[in-house]
Order: sequence, then structure tokens, then C-alpha cells
Amino acid sequence: MTATIDKTQFRKALGAFTTGVTVVTTRGADGKDYGLTANSFNSVSMDPPMVLWSLGKTSSSIQAFTGSEHFAVHILAADQEAVSNRFAKSGADKFAGIKPARGHGEVPLLDGCSARFECRVAYQYDGGDHVIFVGEVLNFDTFAQPPLIFHGGNYGLLLKKADEADISATFGGDWLGNLLGRAYYQLLMPIKANLKDKGLGDIHYNILSVLSMGDGRSCEEIARLVAISGDHVDTGHVLTLADRGLVRLERGDDGARLVHFTAEGRAYAMELLASCKAAEGDAERELDYREAQVLKLLLKRVIRSTANGLPEHWRKENFWRENNIWREEAQTAQA
Ligand SMILES: Cc1cc2nc3c(=O)[nH]c(=O)nc-3n(C[C@H](O)[C@H](O)[C@H](O)COP(=O)(O)O)c2cc1C
Repeated sequence: MTATIDKTQFRKALGAFTTGVTVVTTRGADGKDYGLTANSFNSVSMDPPMVLWSLGKTSSSIQAFTGSEHFAVHILAADQEAVSNRFAKSGADKFAGIKPARGHGEVPLLDGCSARFECRVAYQYDGGDHVIFVGEVLNFDTFAQPPLIFHGGNYGLLLKKADEADISATFGGDWLGNLLGRAYYQLLMPIKANLKDKGLGDIHYNILSVLSMGDGRSCEEIARLVAISGDHVDTGHVLTLADRGLVRLERGDDGARLVHFTAEGRAYAMELLASCKAAEGDAERELDYREAQVLKLLLKRVIRSTANGLPEHWRKENFWRENNIWREEAQTAQA
């Protein structure tokens, strides 16, 4: 007797197995193209080269696949989530707008994937409510694209485990604070070199950063905002910047002395921003676009989850003002 099991729980348990995502295509006896998203794909044999996958018997493509001698398996790339969703919808014209190349048996071949296998159907087995197809691989292609991942009903990205040994040897473990500190220090090295040429240091960079988010602030306000970096600003630091012609001090309406950018200071802040962007590009050299996005997303989460107890004046809106230079820059670029 077959054991009775809870289908939902069974599906959930199967979802614990992480897979890639494929689209399997064929050419039906009716001359139409068929295809569907499948993660039941697996390797079977090296010699002869064989792969397998299984197709639900209720699939609208069942006749096409059981009646065909060939199929092609496309291992989807990380940016092909939309392709996966398109081929997972029953009934829809999945090939609309696509002009596929043709493989063995006129099977449609899709582009943009990580790897592609053209197969001859070697065996078909009954597999309960699925049919299992074993294909002999006649031809295959690989493309340098990171793969799309499927786990627990969700798409995911592959994140290679880092070579932690490199870091822990010198820095005593992979404590997040160490990693963030080291990454930040190294990221800023080219900017520090630029500042050093002008006889300036980190603290001056932090002052210029605060000013670039909003011009015309008192020394006290600058000191309060810069303090988030752990630096203690005093009037001497501001006077050094004035001495280099980067800022000027003016009396505000209430008589308080306010720090403003000079034209040169504004240009220098832009130059530093360009160096920062270049340094970011260098730092992300070993990351693909999605990994870089994930890194920022996770850091934002860390920032959010550690924000408890942060003084009110360090809220984002206290840093940003209407007259920030990036806004002005964007307006100038538009004009
Ligand atoms: C990630 C993912 C993996 C899937 N794997 C399979 C599979 O291995 N076999 C299968 O028959 N259906 C699978 N499906 C479901 C089919 O793609 C879906 O039922 C599709 O609508 C079938 O299309 P058709 O009825 O036009 O053949 C999967 C769906 C997704 C989103």
C-alpha cells in the first residue's frame, strides 16, 4: 500500500533541495514549438552522456514531448527569471516574439542561458503523475552566465562561499566589524591619497561630505554630523579648508558663522565623488551586478537593524538639504 503523506508538507520538503531552473523545449508532431520551466533536471551518465527530467502528465505539452524524439534543456541564467515565469504559464503562447534557432529534430533553442543540452530521447519511464525522460546528449553549449537558483519556491542567486582563510589569517576571524572596517579602509585608500596631496585628511573629507549634502551649516552642526564617523571636528579643521580655498565662512541672518563651499570646493567635492565612484567600481570587480546589489541590500539591513539608540540628529533627513551639490549638479546637467 502506498503511504499517505501530506502533499503540502511533501512539496515543502522537496523544496529544501536547491536546484537550478531549466526550460525544456521540443518541436511537436504538429510542427509547433513547446516548452516549459522544469527544475526536475539532473545529470545521469557521463558515458554515454545522459540527462533526465520529468514532466507532469497534466501538462498541456505532454503529447508533444511523449511524441517527440528530441528535446533541448536550457539552464537559465540569473537574469532569466522572466523567461522562467513565461514558460511556467500553461496555455500561453510562450514563444511569442522569440525567433528561436533550431537544433536536432528542429527543436527550438533559446539564447541567454548558462548552458544548453540538445538531446535524443533515449528512454521514457512512467513516474507516477509524471513521465521521466532520459535523453542522450547529442550536443551541448556553455555560456559564461551565472545561473538562476530555485529553493523553497523562491528564485535565488548563487553566492560563492568566500575564501575566508585569506582574511582570518591576518585579521583574527570574520567578525562583521572587522570585515566592514577593512573593506571601508581599503575602499577609501585612493581618496585618502587624493586628500593627502592637498594636505588634507579623513576628517576634512567628512566635512566636505556633510557640506555636499547641504551647504551653509554652522561649525557646530558640521561637528555634530561628522561625529557619526567617530571624528571630532573643531574650528581648526574648517579653517584649514578655508585656507585651501575650498570653503568660506559667512555670517548668517542670525549672526552665526556658516560654512559655505567656494566654487573650487564644490568642484573638489565632485572630484572626490568621482574617485569614490571609481573606487566602488574597483571594489566590485569580483562581483557581478546582482552580487553588488545584494551586498548593498544586506548592508542596508545591517544599518537598519543596528539603528536602535542612534541620536535623533543622525537621522538621514538631518544630513540632506535642498541645496546639496548632487541635486545642483543634476540640474546643471539637465539644463
Ligand atoms: C521553478 C519551476 C520548476 C518547475 N519544474 C517542473 C518540472 O520539473 N516538471 C513539470 O512538469 N513542471 C514543472 N514546473 C511547472 C511547469 O513549468 C508549469 O506547470 C507549466 O505551466 C507547464 O506548462 P504546459 O502545461 O504548457 O506544459 C515548474 C515550474 C517552476 C516555476
